[in-house]
Amino acid sequence: MNDNKLERAVHLLRAGEVVAMPTETVYGLGAAIDSVEGINKIFSTKKRPFFDPLIVHVSSKKMAKTLTSDWHPMADFLAEHFWPGPLTLILPKADSVNQLITSGLSTVGIRMPKHSIALSLIDLLSVPIAAPSANLFGKTSPTSASHVEKEFEGQGLMVLDGGPCEVGLESTVLLIRKTQEHYQLSILRSGHVLRSDLEKALSVSRLKFEFVKNNEPALAPGQLKHHYMPEVPLVLIKNKSMKLDEVVATTLNKMSHLPAEVESVSLKKISQIKNPLMLELPEESHLAARQLYSKLRELVEIKKADFLYFYRQEIHSAEEWESVMDRLTKAATFILE
Ligand code: TXA
Ligand code: MG
Repeated sequence: MNDNKLERAVHLLRAGEVVAMPTETVYGLGAAIDSVEGINKIFSTKKRPFFDPLIVHVSSKKMAKTLTSDWHPMADFLAEHFWPGPLTLILPKADSVNQLITSGLSTVGIRMPKHSIALSLIDLLSVPIAAPSANLFGKTSPTSASHVEKEFEGQGLMVLDGGPCEVGLESTVLLIRKTQEHYQLSILRSGHVLRSDLEKALSVSRLKFEFVKNNEPALAPGQLKHHYMPEVPLVLIKNKSMKLDEVVATTLNKMSHLPAEVESVSLKKISQIKNPLMLELPEESHLAARQLYSKLRELVEIKKADFLYFYRQEIHSAEEWESVMDRLTKAATFILE
């Protein structure tokens, strides 16, 4: 990336604009956290509802500390171990963090991305960058600069091209709650960093912790049932013996009973299926994660599928497949058991 382009991006961010930046997970639509105008533009550009909080990206631990009122030993340990990388820590927010970013929550999501362009941009700006994935709300996340350009075509959005994303799925979101005795950890969104990775890392620390399921939906407002959706219906099939004819017939029947919109995401209605295409993923989970979003886009935009289907196999129940299956389940219009 030439320095000139980075400087122009910094200039735009200072002027209250949004800029798309690469990270190792997916491309983000960034704004400087001290620009209310920029933050508002993130929501309006994405058509994102204000109830869904943004992740704040930093380029150092020092910068992360300015965003929270409690940089406790657990935060420090996890940041030291997993940053830069695909782990977002949900911590008590500092007063200085604008409520718009956190959707009025008392917590803030922070992560240090593992991508030299994102890190240089934040460094040059000297202000953390709030960035959700650079796609329209509820839709498939972008894993290349061209995905972002296509999604916001004609809007004059500056996109910093950092090549294809290495991880390909959004970061693991970890809520950390401190009690008198220990830390409670809840994975709000699965990602490349697995629960077993966290457990393994923490086993060499002296920190006391337990994993708990978060039972308070208000603490995880972005975890909707429908998300990451491609332009055409996608069906997950659990029954291996179900043939395509039957899948198509059942789909058309079910589609006629669906509402037009679920959780702010509109579902495309279809009355016939002419070009059904199967989503095929590599057998290795990291490769599958890297390719998932671009494959979904390719099948729809280049191969012109009007219906997508995916057969779920036994191997997909393993822990390392959790994030891919989470995204596929949320991207699916419905699941055929
Ligand atoms: O890998 C990623 O995390 C990418 C790249 C660009 O960093 N970003 C991303 O942002 O996926 P977004 O906005 O698409 O998803 C952020 C998720 C949402 O589900 C949001 O609800 C959750 O993080 N989140 C952010 N702040 C939170 C908070 N204070 N409490 C609970 N959840 C939070
Ligand atoms: Mg997103």
